[in-house]
Amino acid sequence: MQTEIGTDIAKAKMILERGGLVAIPTETVYGLAANALDPLAVARIFEAKNRPAFDPLIVHISKFKELYKYTSSSLDKLGKIANKFWPGPLTILVPKNDRIPDIVTSGSERVGIRVPGHPLTLELLSTLDFPVAAPSANPFTYISPTTARHVYDQLNGRVDYILDGGPSRVGVESTIVGMEGNEMVVYRKGGLEIEELQAVFEGTIRINDFSDSNPQAPGMLKKHYSPDKRVLLLTDDTRLEECDKDKTGLLRYSSPVTGFSSQFVLSEKADLKEAAARLFEGLRYLDKCPIDTVFIEFVPEAGLGRAINDRLRRTLAEE
Ligand code: TXA
Ligand code: MG
Repeated sequence: MQTEIGTDIAKAKMILERGGLVAIPTETVYGLAANALDPLAVARIFEAKNRPAFDPLIVHISKFKELYKYTSSSLDKLGKIANKFWPGPLTILVPKNDRIPDIVTSGSERVGIRVPGHPLTLELLSTLDFPVAAPSANPFTYISPTTARHVYDQLNGRVDYILDGGPSRVGVESTIVGMEGNEMVVYRKGGLEIEELQAVFEGTIRINDFSDSNPQAPGMLKKHYSPDKRVLLLTDDTRLEECDKDKTGLLRYSSPVTGFSSQFVLSEKADLKEAAARLFEGLRYLDKCPIDTVFIEFVPEAGLGRAINDRLRRTLAEE
């Protein structure tokens, strides 16, 4: 059966209340949502995405105050940060209480929670009397979706409804943080810049995000965002002189290279925000081109550039 794409919040609500799956727009990427308090509904997410059960899901709530319904802790430091940046591209890992089923956190004692910054989804969440669990709405290890069409292309027939909120404004997933003792730890670099966190958090922030054996974040796998094409890192443009220009695609930061027809420039004005918003679109575009290899290059390692480079590193990873 074909999945309908639309903007009908009442319909999305009804499907979620019946334990179904709805793709929801957020400012970061589209999510594949189900009732977070219903383990059977949550199990359907894992099935639709082919996602292994050891990879936990983020719980989406409509407002900051809801946070205290699902955690067993008082959260002074993380609470302050969340209150400042929500709605927004920030997920906090907090001790969960019994209302959150184990399937959501893959058995972990901590649950990831955020208030997404998208008006349509916030409206939907505020009409529900439960939060939704939602991973990015892509098949496991493939590129995250930033439009309703991307979701449709990959999950048509596996999701009951796609709520269309236009292209995702930020374009990379939320920054994930938690506390370890007095330190704030960043488990995934994302749409909220570390510089912004640093400006508000009084204390040390440690980055612990690119590891294949990270016990705090079992699901933050190295291999991710993987196109079907071979992906190679370009560190020196002279290497392009030898390659077959018809069979090679390029993902460029700001400067195109002449002679390559399969090419995607993230931001001609070298703006990292624009580059982040276009990253997954670019990877998808190149994956559809009639080429066998894609050369990518890193962007400046600052602000959103850190999140972009993190995704590019995972795109390059082989397992
Ligand atoms: O921007 C986002 O965060 C998007 C939108 C839809 O909200 N969601 C998203 O979800 O990116 P997902 O499932 O694709 O990535 C969430 C990551 C996973 O790598 C997972 O392992 C980690 O967050 N995570 C979630 N809950 C966790 C937990 N309780 N403990 C450790 N890691 C967790
Ligand atoms: Mg994902």
